[in-house]
Amino acid sequence: MQFFVDTANLNEIREAAELGILDGVTTNPSLMAKEGITGEKNVLDHYKAICKIVGDDKDVSAEVIATDYAGMIKEGVKLAGLHENIVVKVPMIRDGIKAISYFTNEGIKTNCTLVFSAGQAILAAKAGATYLSPFVGRLDDISWDGIALIEEIAEIYETTGFETAILAASIRSPLHIVQAAKAGAHVVTCPLSAILGLLNHPLTDIGLAKFLADHKKANG
Ligand code: G3P
Repeated sequence: MQFFVDTANLNEIREAAELGILDGVTTNPSLMAKEGITGEKNVLDHYKAICKIVGDDKDVSAEVIATDYAGMIKEGVKLAGLHENIVVKVPMIRDGIKAISYFTNEGIKTNCTLVFSAGQAILAAKAGATYLSPFVGRLDDISWDGIALIEEIAEIYETTGFETAILAASIRSPLHIVQAAKAGAHVVTCPLSAILGLLNHPLTDIGLAKFLADHKKANG
């Protein structure tokens, strides 16, 4: 399973990359705005900076703002031209599916975002999306079962042979990561804090303290 960080914060991306477990980055317009990145040139430069930090062979999702077919194609082609690691992120809407089909034919990688149902997952895979982003946390927010959706899509893709990778998004906690892994997600994208949360166990801390104390007792 691959680990992506879901952030436009360069320090967070750097920190995740330094851990040596980072496979990619996802961003969205909200995350870019949170970092104060505005204006086309700054946004494009920021994507380039992210690609530089993560290095070769690590995908970076950059989302289109347009919601019409022609606009999405224009933006997506520009984004894809920035760096070979850019994946064009396209919303799950009618023109989005059309745009994903176009990008697929052009050999441009895509991430179909804002996915909340198995039907949407089938349509995106049929259009050839490289990644599919079902939003786990946002389903949980409305007392729907986000992880159950990942399980359902994983079963459908396995049965049908669709090659789209399930990128579990809106992952907010270490438990979500574990559950998404069990459910068959190929990728999780989450804040660095959720990844770091996987480290924690009190018995690890107690055990390490005892090892060090015993070593000190024996060695002075
Ligand atoms: O990858 C999608 C993500 O950015 C949404 O996360 O926590 O805003 O639901 P969240």
